Amino acid sequence: MFNPNVIVPRDTSESENGETERALRLLEKMLENPVELGVGRAGRVFSLPEQSICIKQIIDGSKEFSLNNVKEEIALMAEARGAGVRVPHPMMAVQAKEGDFIVMETIDGHSIKDIWAKGIPLPPNYDHDRFWDTLERLITRLNGAGIHHRDLHEGNVMMEWTTGDPVIIDFGLSCQAFDEDDPYREVDFPRVGELHLFNRDRDQVTQLRVKMLKYLQRNRTRV
Ligand SMILES: Nc1ncnc2c1ncn2[C@@H]1O[C@H](COP(=O)(O)OP(=O)(O)OP(=O)(O)O)[C@@H](O)[C@H]1O
Ligand SMILES: [Mg+2]
Repeated sequence: MFNPNVIVPRDTSESENGETERALRLLEKMLENPVELGVGRAGRVFSLPEQSICIKQIIDGSKEFSLNNVKEEIALMAEARGAGVRVPHPMMAVQAKEGDFIVMETIDGHSIKDIWAKGIPLPPNYDHDRFWDTLERLITRLNGAGIHHRDLHEGNVMMEWTTGDPVIIDFGLSCQAFDEDDPYREVDFPRVGELHLFNRDRDQVTQLRVKMLKYLQRNRTRV
């Protein structure tokens, strides 16, 4: 029997709490008949047709690609959201013998990675400068709240179809740092005894922005 341990973000309101039962039922259904929305190194993301929520299932043995458990990951998403950063609305983390899951809002759009790899059209009202200026502002807000994403590659930035705006996803490697910490230095990662230096969020966004401009120049006819 499905007997999960459910954790909801601390800021979840009473009315949103009522959604938990519905989300759990959808999670059960999705496990029976999963439709894959996307996949990364640490998780697979599934949805049900016509549903506004999706499920990220953590891939077994993906520890070296993830530092946070599902509970920590939704807490960071909720913090980011509270700081005014556009991220999928986190609904709950679920730990069960069937696996570890995050239930969250489905973003109607695609990651930059999928857009590049599959030649998916850009959102109809995509405006290059607006998109990247907005993303830079989101990073300023995020970092201002002490949160550092640390994994802002093209698979972790989505373009929302209706607005043409950026959405930041995947807080599996993120941290909340205090003043005296260097948030981009992680001891004992990916393995005990090793030291990992992450790229700064701002630098990763600058690199992505340049890569997108080059992509647009190469595919001028498609824009
Ligand atoms: N809320 C969402 N709505 C729609 N699609 C999503 C959502 N979250 C993730 N995806 C899709 O699923 C893919 C994998 O999700 P995510 O980046 O969280 O996994 P990951 O394994 O942690 O990735 P990484 O390889 O960066 O570690 C994303 O690139 C995106 O295409
Ligand atoms: Mg990812």
